[in-house]
Amino acid sequence: MRLLVITAAALLLVVLAVKISLAARGLTAAEAAEIAAVLAPTGAPDAPPAYAHCASCHLHDGSGRPDGSIPRLNGQRRTVIENKLFRLRSGMTRLPVMDPFARTLDPHEIIEIANYLSELPDTPSVPSNATDEERATGASLYAEHCASCHGAHGEGNDGLLASRLCGQYAGYLDRRLQEVATKARGDADAVMQGVLEGLPVDDLEPVVKWLAAGRGCVLP
Ligand code: HEC
Ligand code: HEC
Repeated sequence: MRLLVITAAALLLVVLAVKISLAARGLTAAEAAEIAAVLAPTGAPDAPPAYAHCASCHLHDGSGRPDGSIPRLNGQRRTVIENKLFRLRSGMTRLPVMDPFARTLDPHEIIEIANYLSELPDTPSVPSNATDEERATGASLYAEHCASCHGAHGEGNDGLLASRLCGQYAGYLDRRLQEVATKARGDADAVMQGVLEGLPVDDLEPVVKWLAAGRGCVLP
């Protein structure tokens, strides 16, 4: 107990010393923001208990993995997350890595998790190497083929249960489009299968880049 008190006091002193030395030379706004971020409590204190297992892969901030092997779920539409989890629970969507976790959720837990994830703040998009020309092509292809369901800026649509796509990782968008094209998720992707008929996935590369860069995101 004594050791704890001493350690806590020492830590406090270090934090104070850092603050004082920074205050002495004057902080830029960017430095101040960086420090505030480091000192902010990590994790999400109000995460529902059922999210505890999920966080080991999806992380507390819901940001998943930038390589797209795990999608970002923070800021995804509540209705979309609920629909995805109910489909996983019922077995309509089969994702081997997710099945053991999603199958045991009860409806109340699904609703709590969907509320939590949809309200988490955005984390930064991955910097994009897309040229301005690619972005312009992406934006116009998107407007032509996708905006009617996924929203003018990729923000998604509750009534259609269409996911928010803006700011999603390119690796994930690519993989999901390939899955639709090869019917890997069967009926769970029926709507998208219709969309991609006659629209080769490879032609959608600029759309993926435009969406992943998140520049079109206007949050609802
Ligand atoms: C062992 C790691 C792991 C754990 C634990 C885990 N997930 Fe996932 N989750 C993944 C991966 C990987 C994917 C992407 C699967 C894919 O697209 O093939 C995923 C996808 C998802 C999706 C999108 C599903 C879809 O239909 O596109 C949701 C929603 C989700 N997870 C929520 C959760 C929730 C809620 C929990 C906790 C109950 C959880 N996950 C636990 C790894 C995990
Ligand atoms: C007719 C309506 C409609 C159109 C048009 C449409 N989508 Fe979709 N899209 C959906 C629905 C509904 C889903 C299912 C979301 C889910 O599985 O939770 C979806 C899912 C997706 C997904 C998987 C996202 C995820 O969360 O797993 C991607 C990627 C996607 N669409 C990209 C596109 C692109 C790119 C276009 C334009 C070429 C497009 N969509 C056009 C309705 C549409």
